[in-house]
Amino acid sequence: MKEFELKNGNHIPALGLGTSGLRGKQCTEVVKKALELGYRHIDTADMYGNHRAVAEALNKSVLSRDELFITSKIQSEDLENKQLKKTADRLLSELELEYFDLLLIHWPSPEISVEESLKAMKELKEAGKVKNVGVSNFTIPLLKEALAAYPDLITVNQVEFHPTLYQKDLLDFAFKNDIILTAYSPLAQGEVFENSVLKSLGKKYDKSPAQLALRWLIEKNIVAIPKASSEAHLKNNLEVFDWDFPVDAAREMELLDQNNRLIDPGYPDFD
Ligand SMILES: NC(=O)c1ccc[n+]([C@@H]2O[C@H](COP(=O)([O-])OP(=O)(O)OC[C@H]3O[C@@H](n4cnc5c(N)ncnc54)[C@H](OP(=O)(O)O)[C@@H]3O)[C@@H](O)[C@H]2O)c1
Repeated sequence: MKEFELKNGNHIPALGLGTSGLRGKQCTEVVKKALELGYRHIDTADMYGNHRAVAEALNKSVLSRDELFITSKIQSEDLENKQLKKTADRLLSELELEYFDLLLIHWPSPEISVEESLKAMKELKEAGKVKNVGVSNFTIPLLKEALAAYPDLITVNQVEFHPTLYQKDLLDFAFKNDIILTAYSPLAQGEVFENSVLKSLGKKYDKSPAQLALRWLIEKNIVAIPKASSEAHLKNNLEVFDWDFPVDAAREMELLDQNNRLIDPGYPDFD
């Protein structure tokens, strides 16, 4: 599995499994199958209500802890310093893990300062409970706040990113500040399969629109975490590394942006 280097020297697998919407037995089976197929990076969150189901799959796996990369996220209502640390302990106990490979602020809060939450994250890191600290849904102004408070702490910003939402300014800013972007909803929640350009490029090169979208992200040093629930989809999404990315596909895909944001609850201001 291809990996990207984080600013602290640690590595993150370039492809992970998104688990939003997967719960209970189905979640356990999908994560178990994904690990068998070669996935090593699992993206979950308190909000998804599936930590125990993920834990069951991890426990059934023959893989050792250091072969896995597990990300979880703290919800906005838990971002106050003490509450964040208490929540992190609960999440670790639900996941039956000693540490997170990556812990994210799931969504910034208009009420709690970035600095306060990051202080708690730093303390968790110092206590060995978090290997890498990150944020999610942070805009450039919020990233600047984070960098001003803790210049070296933030390694990842997980944001919506796909060919029809090409956040070039955010990507440039992240690159300049040595922050890796992770693309959530990398398949635009299934919309890539309706895109006529991706469909025709897919036909031409015998690749699925999902494979083209994921490879487009990975070529930009962006981690992708597609959610899939069938074995066929899991396999298809994993087969994105061992072929040449056609130059004309890369060029055409640069032109697909429509500022097509699928998740926007009003804060922060994405525009
Ligand atoms: N940080 C945040 O605020 C945030 C927000 C949203 C999402 N996320 C994370 O990002 C992950 C992915 O995003 P998402 O779940 O919104 O959407 P997505 O990954 O863009 O799309 C998932 C959809 O694509 C289908 N699919 C996957 N692979 C396919 C393939 N090869 N061929 C055909 N269809 C395929 C899935 O169907 P099947 O399920 O039937 O396979 C599902 O309907 C989430 O699960 C979550 O972990 C984070």
